[in-house]
Amino acid sequence: MKITVIGTGYVGLVTGTCLAEVGNEVLCLDLDASKIAILNGGGIPIHEPGLLEMVKRNVAAGRLKFTTDIEQSVAFGQVQFIAVGTPPDEDGSADLKYVLAAARNIGKHMNEYKVVVDKSTVPVGTADKVAAVLQEELSARGVDTTFAVVSNPEFLKEGAAVEDFMRPDRIVIGTEDPKAVTIMRELYAQFNRNHDRIVVMDLRSAELTKYAANAMLATRISFMNELALLADKMGADIEQVRLGIGSDPRIGFHFLYPGCGYGGSCFPKDVQALIKTAAENDIKLKVLTSVEDANEAQKQVLLTKIKARFGSELQGKNFAVWGLAFKPNTDDMRAASSRTLIEGLWALGATVTAYDPVAMDESRRIYGDDARLTYAENHMSTLDGADALVIVTEWKEFRVPQFEEIKARLKSPVIFDGRNLYVPAQVRSHGLEYFAIGRR
Ligand SMILES: NC(=O)c1ccc[n+]([C@@H]2O[C@H](COP(=O)([O-])OP(=O)(O)OC[C@H]3O[C@@H](n4cnc5c(N)ncnc54)[C@H](O)[C@@H]3O)[C@@H](O)[C@H]2O)c1
Repeated sequence: MKITVIGTGYVGLVTGTCLAEVGNEVLCLDLDASKIAILNGGGIPIHEPGLLEMVKRNVAAGRLKFTTDIEQSVAFGQVQFIAVGTPPDEDGSADLKYVLAAARNIGKHMNEYKVVVDKSTVPVGTADKVAAVLQEELSARGVDTTFAVVSNPEFLKEGAAVEDFMRPDRIVIGTEDPKAVTIMRELYAQFNRNHDRIVVMDLRSAELTKYAANAMLATRISFMNELALLADKMGADIEQVRLGIGSDPRIGFHFLYPGCGYGGSCFPKDVQALIKTAAENDIKLKVLTSVEDANEAQKQVLLTKIKARFGSELQGKNFAVWGLAFKPNTDDMRAASSRTLIEGLWALGATVTAYDPVAMDESRRIYGDDARLTYAENHMSTLDGADALVIVTEWKEFRVPQFEEIKARLKSPVIFDGRNLYVPAQVRSHGLEYFAIGRR
């Protein structure tokens, strides 16, 4: 099949590459010429395990190409995936300007039947808006051709995106158009061989399914974060509680890890957007509003613990920060807890020395050369001259450190662990003070 993917970010580039990997011809469009230059130069603009090799293989095989040329991209694929960003608007709702601009571009240039697939996470009713924009552009040109709009939300996780796309749990296809269902089934056949994972539903249900999935996951995290705060106060150990409840198959162990708040490009914005959609329809989502409030508060938890230990006047103090990405195996820092921490420490007068295996370039892009933030070559060298260590991202390389060396290199032997990486008694046996999240 010939497929166009619009947007070469975390979702678009993975989608395009994986579709090429199973034999399709794929053209990826992005309006950001610098991203297309990187891709055409043999690199990739993001960090995603396994992606670079797969891109190279498919480019070499002639199945995967990149362009900034809209006309060419519209002409190329019978299926046009829209995988552009849907960042939060000022009021929390999803900003659809990129999605609708992509749709408008398709409408301006298409001359034959196309299946236009919303892969971006978009509020219920967006497919109708996409269809209206397409029809408006076709009518303006007097072109009489049909099209289908399909909602095909993406459930991949950054850091495991290639694996998730190649072996999906489910493939949601929302459309009322039988011809589009046939085309989408054919397109996904190679990802669906072991057993049928395709769930066909109406458009609006598909759009809501994506938000429901992220909202449920965010709820589990905020629930555990609140219980961790209680455990801290009551002298209970949240890790024991996690084991105690996770063994119930109705609950399960996944997504029960308390921490210093969820971030990233999806949960915060999708929870906010769903609350907003509901409000527009006169429904107050009370559970999700609290999930969001609890998460905002949780992003302050490390700062609260730091202030309790060092006071609120942190002039002249330096903190070593391990991890900048919102989670391991990605360089994405959108809504990352590290940003709340760093900016909070600055506000109290402190400076930061940070290390992240892949997100330091992204951090430089965000913070420029602000003298209050310096970067170390590796995680251990952040410690030299620092007053304490703060762990924000659970990268594997932080999991088994030399505690004696940490103690020797820090000015004061204190660790604040926002991801509960260690066994508290073990850390303390090395003479370190250890503040984790809900751990005894
Ligand atoms: N990142 C994730 O883990 C993830 C997972 C599932 C769903 N999603 C959803 O997928 C969508 C994309 O997310 P992302 O993280 O890949 O975004 P991203 O910001 O990494 O990439 C979006 C890309 O689209 C490009 N773009 C914008 N307008 C364009 C246009 N008119 N034509 C061509 N290119 C255009 C941008 O230049 C950018 O490169 C969002 O709706 C997001 O919520 C993301």
